[in-house]
Order: sequence, then structure tokens, then C-alpha cells
Amino acid sequence: MAQPEDEARLRAHGWLTEPAALRRYRAVRQATLALTRSLTPEDQQAQSMPDASPTKWHLAHTSWFFETFLLTPRLAGYKAFDPRFGYLFNSYYEAVGPRQPRPERGLLTRPSLADVVAYREHVDAGMARLLAGGTDGFADLLDLGLAHEEQHQELILMDILHLFAASPLNPAYAPPRRAPGGAAPPLGFVDFEGGVVEIGHDGSGFAFDNEGPRHKVWLEPFALADRLVTNGEWLGFMADGGYARPEFWLSEGWARARAEDWRAPLYWQEGPDGWQVMTLRGLRPVDPAQPVAHVSFYEAEAYAAWAGARLPTEAEWEHAAAAFPPEGNLLGSGRLEPAPAPDGRGLKQLYGDLWEWTRSAYAPYPGFRPAPGAVGEYNGKFMASQFVLRGGACVTPEGHVRASYRNFFYPQQRWMFSGVRLARDAAGPRARVPSFEDDVVEGLGKARKSVPPKYFYDAEGSRLFEAICELPEYYPTRTETALLRARAAEIAQAIPKGAALVEFGSGASVKTRILLDAAPQLAVYAPVDISPEALAAAAHDIGRDYPTLTVAPLAEDFTRALTLPAQAAGRPVVGFFPGSTIGNFTPHEARAFLEGARRLLGEGAAFIVGIDLVKDAATLTAAYDDALGVTAAFNRNLLARINRELGGDFDLDAFDHRAVWNEADSRIEMHLESRKAQTVHVAGRAFQFAAGETLHTENSCKFTVEGFARLAASAGWRLEREWVSPAPAFAVVLLRA
Ligand code: AVI
Repeated sequence: MAQPEDEARLRAHGWLTEPAALRRYRAVRQATLALTRSLTPEDQQAQSMPDASPTKWHLAHTSWFFETFLLTPRLAGYKAFDPRFGYLFNSYYEAVGPRQPRPERGLLTRPSLADVVAYREHVDAGMARLLAGGTDGFADLLDLGLAHEEQHQELILMDILHLFAASPLNPAYAPPRRAPGGAAPPLGFVDFEGGVVEIGHDGSGFAFDNEGPRHKVWLEPFALADRLVTNGEWLGFMADGGYARPEFWLSEGWARARAEDWRAPLYWQEGPDGWQVMTLRGLRPVDPAQPVAHVSFYEAEAYAAWAGARLPTEAEWEHAAAAFPPEGNLLGSGRLEPAPAPDGRGLKQLYGDLWEWTRSAYAPYPGFRPAPGAVGEYNGKFMASQFVLRGGACVTPEGHVRASYRNFFYPQQRWMFSGVRLARDAAGPRARVPSFEDDVVEGLGKARKSVPPKYFYDAEGSRLFEAICELPEYYPTRTETALLRARAAEIAQAIPKGAALVEFGSGASVKTRILLDAAPQLAVYAPVDISPEALAAAAHDIGRDYPTLTVAPLAEDFTRALTLPAQAAGRPVVGFFPGSTIGNFTPHEARAFLEGARRLLGEGAAFIVGIDLVKDAATLTAAYDDALGVTAAFNRNLLARINRELGGDFDLDAFDHRAVWNEADSRIEMHLESRKAQTVHVAGRAFQFAAGETLHTENSCKFTVEGFARLAASAGWRLEREWVSPAPAFAVVLLRA
């Protein structure tokens, strides 16, 4: 009998050839058996729940598929291995006949594993004979059978993990390995314009019937997260009561979470040393940088609601993914676990990490017709009550997945390798964040002309603001800094050991150093700022001067930040928002900001906020109308910026700087007052100013501690402590979520 080496030699010389279809068939069948190498016969017999099947059953059922749909109808003289197997190993094909109930597959101790392996060999021998004659008339069915077997390869791994997770011994399917470690890059969003786009399989290569027909869909502008949600972020959701707060959950999801007492993703266990997760490589600590896995659609939805985002639709996902085909983006199936996202731009982890839940119900595409006959039952009849998942997982065989691939599961199911990618409505005509031009044109068109104060801070405005902070009249910066220094030790007591300090609008992080010096117990510093340059510079300097501190910058508009950096996950969190910048918000904006901060920092978090207090009008107006005219220059610089960036023709000398104390609204108002009747042009439009009419450029609210406590309480914060400076009065308050 020829030995395998002889056969290989014969093949190498071209004396023994094998049809390509047979080679492909053999490779897939061998890959299935290879998955069982580390399993005992007992492992392959057990069924851990009705949704899962024993490995032995998968081995037999995939053989039954070839026997039933190819060998019996097409190979002359083919004799079924055992006619009773039709009942045992039919999965769900009504047209083929009755079957063993799915929840009772584990009761099939006969045939033995050895008999099932013999059954596979019998079918393989038949297929070798069939394929020797080519694939005319059944190439599509062969492709389907192979894709079907690949799906069962993934099911074998899913089902084994479920079985092993139920074992008190926590057996490892594959050799344990340390978690990949590292840190996930900050979460970003990639914008897509939307419009009319095409989705669905384009006909090149194999696809399941449910992926077609290709058709047009309309997409509103949207944004897709550039990576999957991490375990660290999920810990933040849990710490904020994510599993206990019905406001984030769909009604059915909430009922299910209560009924099954969900407190964490499926395979997480809480131990004395924190959360652990059962993986195919055994039980190990939850790695904050890895994507969160084994969550249901309901949990994914709740997380997205908590994060102020949503799940993508399948059309959004496919349209976005079309720009990133699996080739080159598949990080490697067969890894048995998802990998942390790499650094870099664009959409990451699209393929081969985790199946990504979409918000789309699994339904037929327009024009879909199931294939005639029993194989028509493959996909179409499941198009009710399930949701679509996209992208493939680390247990999906290589080459099996594509952009148009539609996987589907029931919304409560969790044992598949499922994860979460966030989406949000974006940059469309309705949801777009207004530009400088939008805000200026709108503000100048109002009966009471105004421009939001955030536009002060171009390079020159930022330089002038720094100069203001040095002025003798402008007391807030100096007073707050002195107060922080004097009370640093007390404030530091509110900072738990190992905590993460999250600073909003960190800029140069100057006041931060007072806290960092007083609280060496801080483990992580997470500055959040929209300016990547300012952020990088501050992060670099702090990292250099505080070498034991982990610096985890977040380049985001701090009023819109959704998730903390992974390095802060699982740690106590302390927010920091000095400078009374909260006074520049409208009351509505201030409340929304405090609510967002509460969501971001989480239940139990502390929040240290600097607020300027009400005082005599003379001190206040002097602070905003200094003798050197620096604040006047700061105010007028806004007009210079409009002229430069929006093609304006403001005459800076035709406007006077005004700072007035509005007692009723408890705020200093800054205005630019027109010295004469004049017409100004901006962005191609004309705006009339009457003599004495003003352009309102800033409010700087002054608080009482009690009034601020009420505002904070309306956003879910409790005032825990306050420190008030000697006159001119300024306060630092400690809030608790
Ligand atoms: C940034 N913000 C807290 C300052 C304030 O006092 O409202 C801005 C400012 N405007 C004029 N002078 C300073």
C-alpha cells in the first residue's frame, strides 16, 4: 500500500493528480477533524444546552449533508452508511423527514464516536468517487456543502466553549496563553456620507442565498466606530449600573436580563481578584483592551444607549466595510480569541474578531427567493425574530467571511462570538455639528446679535486669554490656583488609591500638577481635549514629569466624549474641571455637560469642579474690563477671526468692548458695541448694526455654592464638599455621582 510520503512524491511529479474540487473538499473535511484533536470522546458526546450540539453530532451531521444532498441523488450505486442516520443527523430539513429533537442530541450515545468517524470516511470515499467525475450540475451544491461544513467548524468551537465554561474544572480547549495585553487605541468615529448605495452579494464567488439580490438602499449620513467596544469600556458600563438601569434596555431585553440575572457578559465570573473570563484558552483575567465578547443583542443595545450611540444597520455596516475587504483586514481567524485593535486610522477589527451585532432584523432582501427543494430551507425560513451580525469572528474559518455575509441569531443568544461596534447619526444636513460660519451667520441674523464664546480661542485668542490670567484685575485663575494649593491635601483625600483622573478641556494641564503632586496614589491621568496638539504636548510633559503615572489622552470634544480610555477601566474615577469654564455654558448646556460627565465617569465617581462665586459688581466688571485693555483685545479678536476666516469686513475700531454685570441672571456679559450705524459683510451676507447695538460675545456665570449644588443635583450629582477661597471668592467643589 502506498505510504503518504510516496503519494506526496507521486503528486509532486504530477503522476498522481487530484481534481481541484476534491482537494478543496478534503481540506475542509480535514480541518473539521483537526478541531477535535484536543478533545476526548467524552468531550465530544456532551450537549451543554438545547442551542448547542455535541461535537460528535456536528461530525455526523456535516457528513449527512453530503450524503443526503449529493451522494444519494447523484452517485450511482452509492449505499447509505446506515439508513437510520437520516433521522439522527437531519438538523432542520422538513422536506427530508423527521429528526431527533435538537435538545436531545446529547442523548445519542450510539453511534459511538468511532462509528461516526467511520461514517465520515464512508462519505469521504463516496465523495472522492463523485468528484473524480467533475462537478457538472452540482458545483453550487458542493460549494454550499463546504460552506455549511465551515459553519459547523465554528459551531464546534462555540459549543465546546459553552460546554467547558459549564465545567467546574474550567478546561482549556487550546494551550493557555497570556492575554495579548497592551492598550486599545482611543475610540474614534469614521464619517460616511450616506445617500443611495448598493448592498448584497455582487455575484463573484460563492455566497449564501440570503446575501442577494444586490439592491439599492438609502442611507442617512452616519458614523461608525473605528474599533469594537472593549472589555474595559464594558466594565465602565457595568460600574455605572448598566445591568441594573432599565432606562438603557429594550423592554424584552430588560425582562430577559432580569429573568436570567445577567450582570456581565456570558463567560465572565467575578472572583476575589476581579473579573475573569472563560475562553478557549481557559479561565483568565478580563483584559480591558480586548473587545468584549459573548454579549446578546439586548446587551449590545443597552450598551449603545448608555454610550449615547446606537448599533449600525447592516446596510451601514456593509457599505462602510466595502471599502475594507477582508483580504488584508482579516487579522487571522484560528486565533481562537479576538485581538485588541491595532493603532492606526480607518475601520479596524472588521473581520475575524467578533461577529458584530447590527440593528437590522434578519429579513429577505427585495427579490429574494429561496432555492427550490430542501436546500431552500437553508436560510430563508429563519427570517423572523432574529438579528443580523456581520464580519466573522476569531473562530470563523479563514476565507469563509465577506462584506456581504449575513449571520443571524436571536436577540437573547450569547454563546456565539459576538461583539459590539457603535454607530451614530452624523454630519448629515440635520445632525451636523454647526460650523463657525453657521454659528456666526445665525448669530448675526438674530434680533439680539450673539456669537458663542468658544470661538474666542484661535491661536491669538488663546494667547490673549493666557495674558488675561496674569492681569491684576482677573482674579479667578490666581485665586483658584492658590485655593487648590492650600487645600490640596484635603482634596487629595477624595482620590482613591489607583484612581484615574479625567480632566475635561485639559489644555496645558497646569492646575492638574497641583493635584498630581498631592495625590501620588493616582494611577492614570486621562486628559480630554479637542486639540490633538495641546493634548499631545500636555500628555508628553506630564508623562515625563510623573513617570509612574499612566497618561491616557483622549482627543475628543469633552462635551461629547462617550467612553473612557481603556486604561481607566475598572478603576475608581475622579473628574476634574477647573477654571469655572462651566460658567461659560448656558444653564441648559451646563446641565447637559454634567449629565454627560456623570455617564462618562460612572456611578460612584467623584468630580472636582472649580466655580467662580457671586461678588460685588465692581470686582466682577474690573476682571472683565482691565485697565490695560487686554480683555478688550481678546473680545475684538473675535471680529479679526471672523474677517480672516469668513471673509468678513468688520472695522475693529468701530466697536467698543463692554463688560456688564447682569444681576438678574447672575452673569458677567461681554459685548462689542457698535459706535455708529454700519453695515458689515460676513460670508457674502450683509448685517446692519444700529449705533449702540451690541454683539453679545460671552456670558460668564457666577454661582453660589447652593445654586451650583442644585444645578449639579439636577444632573445626578451630589455636593459632597466645598472649599471656598478668601475674597475674591472662588470655590472648588467635590461632587459625587
Ligand atoms: C474661560 N473662562 C472661564 C473665562 C471667564 O472668566 O469666563 C473667559 C474669559 N473671558 C473674559 N475673560 C476671561
